[in-house]
Amino acid sequence: MSEPIKSSTSAAIPPLSGVPVHVAVIMDGNGRWARSRGLPRFAGHRRGVEAVRDLVAACGEKGIRYLTLFAFSSENWRRPETEVHLLLDLFGMALDKEVKKLHANNIRFRVIGDIVAFGDKLVERIRQGEALTRDNTALTLTIAANYGGRWDIAQACRELARRAASGLVDPASITPDSLEPFLSMAKVPEPDLFIRTGGEQRVSNFLLWQLAYTELYFTPVLWPDFDRAQFEIALASYAGRQRRFGHTGEQIEAASSGSTGKRA
Ligand code: IPE
Ligand code: IPE
Ligand code: MG
Repeated sequence: MSEPIKSSTSAAIPPLSGVPVHVAVIMDGNGRWARSRGLPRFAGHRRGVEAVRDLVAACGEKGIRYLTLFAFSSENWRRPETEVHLLLDLFGMALDKEVKKLHANNIRFRVIGDIVAFGDKLVERIRQGEALTRDNTALTLTIAANYGGRWDIAQACRELARRAASGLVDPASITPDSLEPFLSMAKVPEPDLFIRTGGEQRVSNFLLWQLAYTELYFTPVLWPDFDRAQFEIALASYAGRQRRFGHTGEQIEAASSGSTGKRA
């Protein structure tokens, strides 16, 4: 398979369509959803899993190729121990329940992040799920767990530094493209659309490198309430935007009225 186009690093005007190829989501607001109903925070996390199921199905139907979900950040260890444990248990349970269904739907499942911290048993179940679904060709569902954008960049730098130390790479020749192959999302196109539910307008150490030219969409809707109608609104917002990647609006208009992929 050829390398995907990294639209923000290509000098050419990338062919664009109204439907994103890659959607990345910060699923925020589970705790507030539960609290507003007088329920424990965990009830919100459980409902959050149902919202994930619906979004995965919607992406499949729309022909979206990549869906990347932030499930647990490298900073979420700072939460009370009981919540952290409940979240990890829920992740394990969802894994056992959903992976076979994902496989039946031709969905490829991947996890990115420093998962060693989750312990051997959970890591093994994650690896089994990834192996089972490896060759699936519909949607690629990536779960970011114990993930941090800074961690990702640092671990990629470590790999590159190792190669430089052993003489395989000349430090003077290092460019942003040199780091790409070592990042967790190597070989995946950059997200076209970023969605954050729950009202906060921040990136919270998600895909820092990859979001350089992603269209950002923030909604106050809490994650358990983010249904298909809400997803449609996010997609409509995306479809109405002009992505310029540093070009002028006139260049983009000229490229989209003539042949696609014209050089700047
Ligand atoms: C997002 O919901 C889920 C995780 C971070 C695991 P939160 O648990 O952050 O919900 P709020 O932000 O407290 O409402
Ligand atoms: C971001 O949500 C991480 C996930 C959704 C997994 P947080 O709720 O942890 O983010 P902050 O702390 O409000 O920035
Ligand atoms: Mg939150």
